Amino acid sequence: MSEPRAVHLSDYQPFTHIVRDVALTFRLAPRATRVSATLRLAPNPARPGHHDLRLDGENLRLLSLRLDGQPLDLTPDATGLTIPAALLPSAPFTLHTEVEISPETNTALEGLYMSRGMYCTQCEAEGFRKITFYPDRPDVMAPFRVRIESDLPVLLSNGNPAGQGAGWAEWVDPWPKPAYLFALVAGDLVAHSAPFTTASGRAVALNIWVRPGDQDRCAYAMDSLIRSMRWDETAYGREYDLDVFNIVAVDDFNMGAMENKGLNIFNSKFVLASPETATDDDFARIEAIIAHEYFHNWTGNRITCRDWFQLCLKEGLTVFRDQQFSGDMRSHAVKRIEDVLLLRARQFREDGGPLAHPVRPDSYVEINNFYTATVYEKGAEVIGMLKRLVGDDGYARALDLYFTRHDGDAATIEDWLAVFQDATGRDLTQFKRWYTEAGTPRVKVWEDWDGETYTLTFEQENPPTPGQPEKGAKVIPVALGLLNPNGDEVLPTTVLELTETRQSFRFPAAARPVPSILRGFSAPVILDREVSPEERAFLLAHDTDPFNRWEAGRALAKDLLARMVTDGASPGPDWLDAVARVTFDDTLDPAFRALALRLPGEDDMAATLHGAGITPDPARIWSERRRMAEALARHLGPRLPALIDALAEPGPFTPDARAAGRRALRIAALSLMSRLDGGRAAATAYRAANNMTEEVGALVCLLENGLGQEELRLFETRWSADRNVMDKWFALQIAHAHPDQAVATTDRLTRHPAFDWKNPNRFRSVIGALSANHAGFHHASGGGYRLVADWLLRLDPLNPQTAARMSTAFETWPRYDADRRALVAAELARMAATPGLSRDLGEMVGRMRG
Ligand code: ARG
Ligand code: ZN
Repeated sequence: MSEPRAVHLSDYQPFTHIVRDVALTFRLAPRATRVSATLRLAPNPARPGHHDLRLDGENLRLLSLRLDGQPLDLTPDATGLTIPAALLPSAPFTLHTEVEISPETNTALEGLYMSRGMYCTQCEAEGFRKITFYPDRPDVMAPFRVRIESDLPVLLSNGNPAGQGAGWAEWVDPWPKPAYLFALVAGDLVAHSAPFTTASGRAVALNIWVRPGDQDRCAYAMDSLIRSMRWDETAYGREYDLDVFNIVAVDDFNMGAMENKGLNIFNSKFVLASPETATDDDFARIEAIIAHEYFHNWTGNRITCRDWFQLCLKEGLTVFRDQQFSGDMRSHAVKRIEDVLLLRARQFREDGGPLAHPVRPDSYVEINNFYTATVYEKGAEVIGMLKRLVGDDGYARALDLYFTRHDGDAATIEDWLAVFQDATGRDLTQFKRWYTEAGTPRVKVWEDWDGETYTLTFEQENPPTPGQPEKGAKVIPVALGLLNPNGDEVLPTTVLELTETRQSFRFPAAARPVPSILRGFSAPVILDREVSPEERAFLLAHDTDPFNRWEAGRALAKDLLARMVTDGASPGPDWLDAVARVTFDDTLDPAFRALALRLPGEDDMAATLHGAGITPDPARIWSERRRMAEALARHLGPRLPALIDALAEPGPFTPDARAAGRRALRIAALSLMSRLDGGRAAATAYRAANNMTEEVGALVCLLENGLGQEELRLFETRWSADRNVMDKWFALQIAHAHPDQAVATTDRLTRHPAFDWKNPNRFRSVIGALSANHAGFHHASGGGYRLVADWLLRLDPLNPQTAARMSTAFETWPRYDADRRALVAAELARMAATPGLSRDLGEMVGRMRG
C-alpha cells in the first residue's frame, strides 16, 4: 500500500466539470444495494482546456457505465474512475453509472450503512464516494432527484417529497448542494410532527423520526427546533426554504449530528429526552445541537465551503450562532462560562500540544481528523472577536452582505473577511492571522499607578506550534473595566485593541483602580498576571462583569490548588470565605453559584502547572484536589443541609434554565455533603430522585466517595433496556473511579455483555470515560495507556474515524514526566507499527509522535 498523501490548500483548482443535475435511484438491499446515477455534466469554463473527468469512488462494484447512452469499458482504481478527455465531448453530456454496495457490512458508518435494521447515511466529509462515482468535493453543487425502492415503510431523502407508492418514494431537492449534504434514510420509523409557518408564510411540516416507542421522547427536540427556526428569522433574518424539515435519530453515529439539506441525521442521544432519561446537560445539549444543525441550513448549506480547508467558515460561524441562541434561551453569563470551560478543556489543550493546527489548516491527510475544537470552538471565538471589533451594527451589516453576496456559493475565509472589510471599512489583514496561525497567545500584563495616571502594559507571546516556529502579533480585543477600591465601576467595559507585541494604555485615575481584564473572555488567550488573593476575592465579590466574577473565583481556586500541589499549602479563609459568600448569596443565579463551586479540573490543573514550568503529577493533583473539596465541605458543612432543602424543586420536572440551575447548585451542595456524612444524604437523594439529573447527580456523589455499588445495581436493573441511559451507567463508574481502580473497572466493563464496542456511543462511554479519568488514565503503571491503545487498535479496522478521534487521549503526553512520556511513546510506537493501520489513526499517531 502506498503512503497516504497530504492534501494542500495551495493546490486548490476548480473542478474540471460542472454538474448540472443529478438523478439517483436506490434499490435497497442489506448486502447488495444498487445505486444508479445519471449525471448531466458540462466542461467548467473556470478550467479552460479539455480535461479528463475524474470521479471519486471507493468500495463500489461498477455494474455499468454509459456516456450519452453508449457503454464505456473502463475499470475503476482504488479511489475512483477516470474518463479520459479523448472520450469526452466538449459539449454537455450525460453520464450514467450503476454500482452495487453493501450497507450491512459498512462498519465505518460513513456512506450508506445500517443501524439496527434501518438504512442511513453520513456523507460529510467524503462519504458520498462510498455511495456512487461522483466529484465528491464541496465546490461541486447540483440539484438532486432521488428515488428509493424498498419495502421499508419510511423512505426519506433531501428536499421536498415528489411522490410515493407501494415500495418506493421520490424526493426532489431544488437547492444546488454539494454531495456531502446528501442523505437517505429508510426504516420502520414513526414521526413526532408539528407544523411551522415561516415569517413570510411558508407552511413547513416538521418531523422527528424515531423508532416506534421513542416518539414520546421527542417533544423537547421539537420545541428546540421551533425556537431555533424562529430565532434565525429574528436574529439573522434567515427563513427556512423547503416544505418539510425532517430529523432522524440514529443509534450508531460517529459524531453528534449532520445538517443534510432538509434531512438532518442525529445521534439519538442528541434527540431523545424525557425527564426520567435525560439530564439537564442532555437537555441543554439537545437544544444547542438541534439549533446548530438547523442554523447550518444557511451557514453551511445555502453558503457552503469551497474546500475542506474552509471548514471553519461553516462550523465556526454555526457554533457562534448556536452559542448566541443558547445564551438568548438561557443565561448569557452562564453560557459564556460554560463555553469557556469547554474551550480551555478541549481547544487550549489541543492548541498547546502536538495536534495544534490553525483554525484554517493548510494541509491534511484525512479531513475527518480536522473536525476539531480548534476549527469549531476557536473558529467561533474568532467570530466573537470580529463582532467585538466591528460592533453589533457592523456585524449585522457584514452578515447581511455575506448572505446576499454569497448565497449559492462555495466560499472561502477570504470571502468571509472581505464582507467584513466591505461592510465596515476595517482592514482585517492582521486579524486574519487568527485563521492561519495555530497556538494560544499568552498575554502578560503589568500595571503602574503614579498618583494620577494608571497604566496597563500588555505583552503578547505567540508560541511555536508544529510547522509554525514563528508568528506575528495578533489583533487581540481586550475588554477592560476598572473598579474603585470601594467596588464602584469607574471605567465601564471598554475594548482595548492589542496589535503589537508590547503596548501600553493609560487612564486618568485619582485612586489606584482594580482592573477587570478580558471581560467576557473577549479573546481566546492565556492571561498571565500576578494577582494577589485579596484582589481576586475583591473581584469575585464586586466585579460587574459576571464572567470575570466567576473567573476571579476560579483563579483563586487554581492558585490555591497549584500551591497545594507544589508546596503542600492548605486551603485558608481567603478562598473558603469567598466561596462561601457566593454559595449562599441568594441574589445570585443558582447556576452561576454552582459553577463557582466547581473545583478546577485535574486536566486543567495539569495544563496550568505545565504552562508554569512544573511537571504535573496526576496522582498528586487528584489527592490534593480531594483535600481541597474536603476542606470546602467542612467549611460550608453546617449550612449545606438547609441549602439542599431550600433548593428542592416542588412540582413536576421542567427542563428550563432556572430549574436546571437550582438542581445544579443542589447537586454541588450534595457532593460536598457526601464528603462529610458517608454518603447518607446522597443515598437518600438517589432513592427520592424522579428525574435523571438527580439520579445521576446523587450517584456521582456516591461514586466519588468510593460508594454507590448498590445504587449501580439498582440503576442497571432499572435501565438495562435503554441504550442512551446505559451509556451513562458505563461512563460514570469509570470516570469517577478511584485512580488505582479505573483501569480495572474499565477492563471489567469491557467484558460486560452490554459492552457493544462497535457502537460508537458505547465505545466512547467506556474507553472515552477512562481517558476522561485523568489520574486513572495517566496512572504510573501505564495500564491506562495500554488499555486505551489496545482498544483503539481493535476498533481501527472497523471504524477508523472514531478510533482516530479518540486517540486524542494521548495528545497531552509532552506535559508529563519522563517515565510517563516513555510509556506513551511506546504505545504510540506500537500503534504506528501496526500493519494496516488506517489513514485516520495513522495520521493522528504520526502527528502526536512529532
Ligand atoms: N457537520 C457536522 C456538524 O458539525 C459534523 C459532521 C462531521 N462528520 C464527520 N464525519 N467528520 O454539525
Ligand atoms: Zn456543524
